[in-house]
Amino acid sequence: MPLLAIENLTIEFRAGDRALRAVDGVSLIVNEGETVCLVGESGSGKTVTALAIGRLLAPNARIVTGEIRLAGHEVTRLTPRELCGVRGALVAYVFQEPAAALNPVMRIGSQIREVLRVHRPAAATAAEVTRLLKLVGIAAPTERARDYPHQLSGGMLQRAMIAMALASQPKLLVADEPTTALDATIQAQILELLRDLRQRLGMSLLLITHHLGIVSEFADRVVVMYAGQVVEQTATTKLLQRPAHPYSRALLAAVPRLGSNSERLSSIVGSVPSAGRFPAGCRFHPRCPLVQPSCRTEAPALMEVEPGRWVRCPFWEIGG
Ligand SMILES: Nc1ncnc2c1ncn2[C@@H]1O[C@H](COP(=O)(O)OP(=O)(O)O)[C@@H](O)[C@H]1O
Ligand SMILES: [Mg+2]
Repeated sequence: MPLLAIENLTIEFRAGDRALRAVDGVSLIVNEGETVCLVGESGSGKTVTALAIGRLLAPNARIVTGEIRLAGHEVTRLTPRELCGVRGALVAYVFQEPAAALNPVMRIGSQIREVLRVHRPAAATAAEVTRLLKLVGIAAPTERARDYPHQLSGGMLQRAMIAMALASQPKLLVADEPTTALDATIQAQILELLRDLRQRLGMSLLLITHHLGIVSEFADRVVVMYAGQVVEQTATTKLLQRPAHPYSRALLAAVPRLGSNSERLSSIVGSVPSAGRFPAGCRFHPRCPLVQPSCRTEAPALMEVEPGRWVRCPFWEIGG
């Protein structure tokens, strides 16, 4: 049984009298100890999908359909009390902007200790805080524990955030664009750290990125999202050898240099349509170099085209 199984997840946001469908029928799994990358341009629904796992969605969001099973729990049906245990013990998050997730007027060590108090009260000690900071490669961890967030560099702050996420010993770590705000050398170091921790702690990792270059070094499997839907899901090696969906191909052709923070893909014209403005037919058709007449009217289904490879494009074999 996979650690995480999301099935047919559909999420809408209330916006005035309209309901915007930001995530539409998403299914994906993450096995024990596996790293799965969720990729796609900004606005594809990656963050909304990830937040649903810990039921951290904004108040105007509603899970319309779907199931999210995490280590035997059906997340969509948990009571607030049960949810608190799931967040932390089962899933923890690292976000793009560590500074925004930390309390500016509280010492780093105290913030980590707060997490320990909630999830592992017996371990809520200064020694455990030091151990966690050391685990994420922070030098002089006892001293750094006494620092306030503004005293740390961006890279150090992200390490502290990772320590905080690990404090509850989650089975699944969700890292949502964890390096996008950092410069190139630091990006590489943080990614290396995540890879190392995943192996040492035996966690599963759901790594969200718009950067397909990261995927090649990291992921066992890749889930490509576009306009709220999964358009391809396959093993990393297969995706890199021969991306099947025209969008995956475009993403791969546009791999930015590691260190580039640009979310724009120069080789694909246009941008992801926002929720509520998806075109008829295939959502990618206005930007697709292989567009066929039927793509404008018929919405393609996600099909298993090879064992373990799912593609939402009936013409995927053309021009590959
Ligand atoms: N609280 C919200 N209210 C309304 N729309 C939202 C909200 N949060 C996200 N969205 C919309 O959901 C879509 C997907 O967003 P998101 O998951 O953040 O994309 P990604 O993480 O792939 O960049 C976007 O169109 C975004 O505008
Ligand atoms: Mg996002």
